[in-house]
Amino acid sequence: MPKGPTGWTNPLRDPRDKRLPRIAGPSSLVIFGVTGDLARKKLMPAIYDLANRGLLPPSFALIGFGRRDWTDEDFAGVVHDAVREHTRTGFREEVWERLAEGFRFVQGTFDDDDSFDRLRDTLARLDVERGTDGNHAFYLSIPPNAFPTVCEQLDRSGLAKVEGDSWRRVVIEKPFGHDLQSAKELNAIVNSVFPESSVFRIDHYLGKETVQNILALRFANQLFDPLWSSHYVDHVQITMAEDIGLGGRAGYYDGIGAARDVIQNHLLQLMALVAMEEPISFEPKQLQAEKIKVLSATSNILPIAENTARGQYGPGWQGSQKVPGLIDEEGFDPDSTTETFAAIALEVDSRRWAGVPFYLRTGKRLGRRVTEIALVFKRAPHLPFDKTMTEELSQNALVIRVQPDEGITMRFGSKVPASSMEVRDVNMDFSYGTAFTEASPEAYERLILDVLLGEPSLFPVNEEVELSWEILDPVLEHWASEGRPDEYESGTWGPASAEKMLARTGRAWRRP
Ligand code: BG6
Repeated sequence: MPKGPTGWTNPLRDPRDKRLPRIAGPSSLVIFGVTGDLARKKLMPAIYDLANRGLLPPSFALIGFGRRDWTDEDFAGVVHDAVREHTRTGFREEVWERLAEGFRFVQGTFDDDDSFDRLRDTLARLDVERGTDGNHAFYLSIPPNAFPTVCEQLDRSGLAKVEGDSWRRVVIEKPFGHDLQSAKELNAIVNSVFPESSVFRIDHYLGKETVQNILALRFANQLFDPLWSSHYVDHVQITMAEDIGLGGRAGYYDGIGAARDVIQNHLLQLMALVAMEEPISFEPKQLQAEKIKVLSATSNILPIAENTARGQYGPGWQGSQKVPGLIDEEGFDPDSTTETFAAIALEVDSRRWAGVPFYLRTGKRLGRRVTEIALVFKRAPHLPFDKTMTEELSQNALVIRVQPDEGITMRFGSKVPASSMEVRDVNMDFSYGTAFTEASPEAYERLILDVLLGEPSLFPVNEEVELSWEILDPVLEHWASEGRPDEYESGTWGPASAEKMLARTGRAWRRP
């Protein structure tokens, strides 16, 4: 497979080997935060699923680092339970046994030098016993305030240092800071230990098949490009709605809120992919350059008070179940001003997008779980029909359904059969489930494999993160000066202020 300038292999670009699976080389993955939800529900199952798909080498090792007084076997037991419960590809004893031989647990705390020295010795032994060859990735699935200490420890213990042809990489889970200033500080600390080319910031939305398909839809087809601009697009709506509440995550979420948790990363990345120009190639640098250009040209529509909305869920219904409001969730400060719904309006200062608002919204306990990107088109400039005949015709739309029920829908008007000329909305639908027999891998499978392969295309760089904070900071500052968010009933589509925000412009949110 051809190598890129930094030695990575690029599957988006390679014309010959696209059907061959990309298999990781000798390596290990060290997980910090091994007892957390993410490790159990996503990381451990993804690692097993990669092994089950034959994409990890026999020499692969997985190391857990944590405070618990666990042996290697205890750790293997925890991974086993997580895999059994969450595997996508089905449990196979022989795959499991081979994989579990490479499991180790290092007991320790982040501020303890001895713990990191033991980790270093464990990895050195694995290099010899298992053949991991000095290639180690450190996955920081921990609270952001612990990032600096762990980075400093990796540096002090020599674990960040590369010898010969081997590599060391660090994987960082969001949130990358809580505003621009803290993100800059965090980036400075991480980059003082690891060069930017060894830093992999996870935004798991970029690992989703449907998100990567935005590039295929836009740049492999002739059909859509002429429509993709202010000439035809009236506005764009990007929605990431969840029906669940905070559950056991109140501790993490309180003080962060919907905008920092989802808009700063997932939704701004989706917007960048929708709004960017065609990259001159799919080299990571070119892709990043286009996203950076769009984010640099993006700003809030003013005044912020009228063009944003936020809310906290109150009691209501989730399906047929009655659910409590946010302030009754365990571990949530009843006086907290943290929002569980956020909506913002952005504009992109470019020839292509001048005058086209991008509306981004996300929320917990909304009507249903759905993530979609909708390009809503302008109305036809002239309708040569009697007015009553187009009463049920709305604006044309192209909707990318990121999840669930992945696919793409085009909405347009069609004549109602047997009417004289009544026109009504209809949908033309592409669905992954019926078009492909191949199942989509989980986002974390793709991203963990890319880390082990050193393939950076799907990871936002420092500049993207900082630009995203630059966009969000004025909104967060405005909200901080405003006190408590509005309440919305669980199971609805957010606070009344969100409806007003669009109604002012004569538009309405979609009910996906
Ligand atoms: C995470 C957020 O990044 O994405 C969570 O921190 C959210 O709050 C989750 O629930 C949703 O991910 P997905 O892939 O289920 O849409």
